[in-house]
Amino acid sequence: MNEQLTLETITALAKRRGFVYQTSEIYGGLASSYDYGPLGTELLRNIKDKWWQEMIRKKADMIGLDSQILLHPQTWVASGHVASFTDPLVEDKVTHKRYRADHLIETWLAQQPNPPKLVVEEMDVAAMGAFIAENKVLSPEGNPVTAPKEFNILFETAVGAIEGEKSKVYLRGETAQGIFTNFRQVLDSSRVKLPFGIGQIGKSFRNEITTGQFVFRTLEFEQAEIEYFFDPEQTDWHTLFEEWQQRMWHFVVNTLGVREENLRWRRHSDKERSHYSRETFDLDYRFPFGFKELWGVAYRTDYDLQQHIQHSGAKLSYKDPFSGKTFVPHVIEPAVGINRLFLMLLCDAYWHDAENKRTVLRFKPDLAPYKTAVFPLLRNKPELVQKAQQVYEAIAPHHTTTWDDRGNIGKRYYYQDEIGTPFCITIDFETLEDNSVTVRHRDTTAQDRVSIDQLLNYLQDQL
Ligand code: GAP
Repeated sequence: MNEQLTLETITALAKRRGFVYQTSEIYGGLASSYDYGPLGTELLRNIKDKWWQEMIRKKADMIGLDSQILLHPQTWVASGHVASFTDPLVEDKVTHKRYRADHLIETWLAQQPNPPKLVVEEMDVAAMGAFIAENKVLSPEGNPVTAPKEFNILFETAVGAIEGEKSKVYLRGETAQGIFTNFRQVLDSSRVKLPFGIGQIGKSFRNEITTGQFVFRTLEFEQAEIEYFFDPEQTDWHTLFEEWQQRMWHFVVNTLGVREENLRWRRHSDKERSHYSRETFDLDYRFPFGFKELWGVAYRTDYDLQQHIQHSGAKLSYKDPFSGKTFVPHVIEPAVGINRLFLMLLCDAYWHDAENKRTVLRFKPDLAPYKTAVFPLLRNKPELVQKAQQVYEAIAPHHTTTWDDRGNIGKRYYYQDEIGTPFCITIDFETLEDNSVTVRHRDTTAQDRVSIDQLLNYLQDQL
């Protein structure tokens, strides 16, 4: 990441160029909620396609699933979310606005010249309360706050139209539970054998109270989660855990093209780790607001399947087809937020080229929202426009491309650089004579002259 890059710069670019809009902006917006514009939609889709391709389709031991957002409410009782899916909240004593106690402490620490060595993630509610009182930590408005209390972040809604007959359900707080509740069906309907993984991408919802983190933490977000099932007597979990860590790192660095110096692993201490997990690591990215969790990997043991066996009475054990041994498998769970991958890519790709006074999003070409942009040099010359249309139509079936005939070529390049288009193709008067076009490269601004007959091959080699 560029050292001076601020979240405000990224937010402004994302809005200006149609990556991300504030949800319901015409009504004043909705807290921690964003819509994705034309370019953001393409980028999100590219990230999801890459994840699905690398994690599911390329692996013989992986299969996909698409479970519902609304599950039977007992699911969330069994998983422990109804009892303990909470955030520590404080209330501003004057404005009555609520804030995350851990976030206020983090902000306070960042403002101290010599902050005490403290891992906020390891503090429980009592420790946070004591810290806030001792250090007189204030709300962002500068007012005193109440002692923190646990607040459940599961979203509730109701099924049924008639008051009194409605029954409470929850918008899922993680996609993972839909994998566990379908475990029996997957075993019965497919020919999988351990070890194997089930992955899915889908929306999750959390009633998060946050300020100023853009799409990093939102009420509605998309997760890509895997439950990798195995027999702990046959497979060493340490080895499997490390293999998943390597796959996650490889995906971020090689598939998404992110710089390694902006990544780190952080191990959860015993205090921080969830009760169901025997080991948890976060893959953190250096966002403009510091290193923060991008992707978590946890060894959840057989906790979830055992909980669902207990609450549903269903047989969620596995019978080995060769030995006949019957047992409840354990899982390793790599879980990532697609929207965090998205924010990471915007930050990592951002480059201000001071020499040439241009801003460039240097996405890996195969991730860019548009791979190419097609320009007729002049929009009032029908012969140029017609030829450019032919080029556009030849390219469009093969990769995402866009058309621009507004303003001069310099302005068009400026715009395409800012949205990360790796190649701009200009149809000019020379094209009419020798059937060649100018291909201009985003990162170097170098230009090649390429015959239209060779154009697709030329682009395919570089995408
Ligand atoms: N099933 C495990 C699980 O849900 P988590 O750490 O709570 O674990 C997994 O979430 C990932 O989902 C996180 O690493 C993060 O990338 C993403 N995530 C979690 N809460 C989010 C939120 N409110 N907004 C955006 N992404 C979120």
